[in-house]
Amino acid sequence: MDNKYKCVKITKIITHNESNKTFIFDRSFDNVIPGQFAMVWLPGVDEKPISFSAPDEITIKKIGPFTEKTFNLKEGDKLWLRGPYGKGYNNFEKPYYVFGGGCGIAPLKFFINKNIEKIKSIYLGCRSKTDVLFLKDFIQLAEQNDIELNIFTEDGSFGKKGMIIDTDEEFSDKYNYAVCGPERMIKAVADKINIPAQTYVSIERYMKCAIGLCGNCSFSGYRVCVDGPVFSYDIVKDLPHFCSKRRTRTGELVNI
Ligand SMILES: Cc1cc2nc3c(=O)[nH]c(=O)nc-3n(C[C@H](O)[C@H](O)[C@H](O)COP(=O)(O)OP(=O)(O)OC[C@H]3O[C@@H](n4cnc5c(N)ncnc54)[C@H](O)[C@@H]3O)c2cc1C
Ligand code: FES
Repeated sequence: MDNKYKCVKITKIITHNESNKTFIFDRSFDNVIPGQFAMVWLPGVDEKPISFSAPDEITIKKIGPFTEKTFNLKEGDKLWLRGPYGKGYNNFEKPYYVFGGGCGIAPLKFFINKNIEKIKSIYLGCRSKTDVLFLKDFIQLAEQNDIELNIFTEDGSFGKKGMIIDTDEEFSDKYNYAVCGPERMIKAVADKINIPAQTYVSIERYMKCAIGLCGNCSFSGYRVCVDGPVFSYDIVKDLPHFCSKRRTRTGELVNI
């Protein structure tokens, strides 16, 4: 675990749409495993957990004060990162089906690029075409590597109209499954796959220390920062806090 802050300079910013941007750095975190995250510090603002979308890249969704401030950053500006932290996707006994929803698509891009020969099929689900992050990259890598790409948009503006769970595909235990996205999407997709011991999901909770000390990320007895964020769905599916409770900045337990 590397707790020292590293200063990175932003060399390129990709604006995907009104609420999502990717920041590419002048330095690569070569030891990072897809699914792991960094604590990203903007001095004078805050420090927040953000997943890697490549070893030298993070993708941010504008949602509150910290992410709004990052949207004001320009190429050449600096950020401070500590990490990488947590458990990523690490079971490669079987090829993978990958399911990404919303901003959860970004860390899965990293997972797919790093393990391309182990990817059987990709499912992406979003409200609209403009929300499908890295769409051109996914189309290209699917074509070049003979990977099935299934895109669902709720408004029908790209791919199939509907949600990922509308697929009529039957899932087999010959594969592993990686799921990242909003918690209710994770539940719906993982329940549809219905092979919990071979399904790996990424969970988000409010983090402060990111090294297992403060307990703010507690998730029915697990600390998401060190026991996760990637968990086997076999563990997650019956936890009382799954799709139900999370802690706020002050540690108060509230309904999701
Ligand atoms: C392991 C991990 C990886 C993450 N990766 C990314 C990423 O790659 N890109 C990205 O944009 N964001 C990511 N996040 C989420 C990001 O850290 C939070 O959304 C962060 O709080 C944003 O800060 P803010 O000040 O902009 O908004 P805030 O004001 O902190 O949050 C906005 C709203 O979201 C709620 N909220 C905040 N954090 C959480 C949480 N962990 N779980 C549930 N609700 C929450 C708040 O209560 C509030 O209602 C990740 C979180 C975790 C735990
Ligand atoms: S964020 Fe402190 S224990 Fe996880």
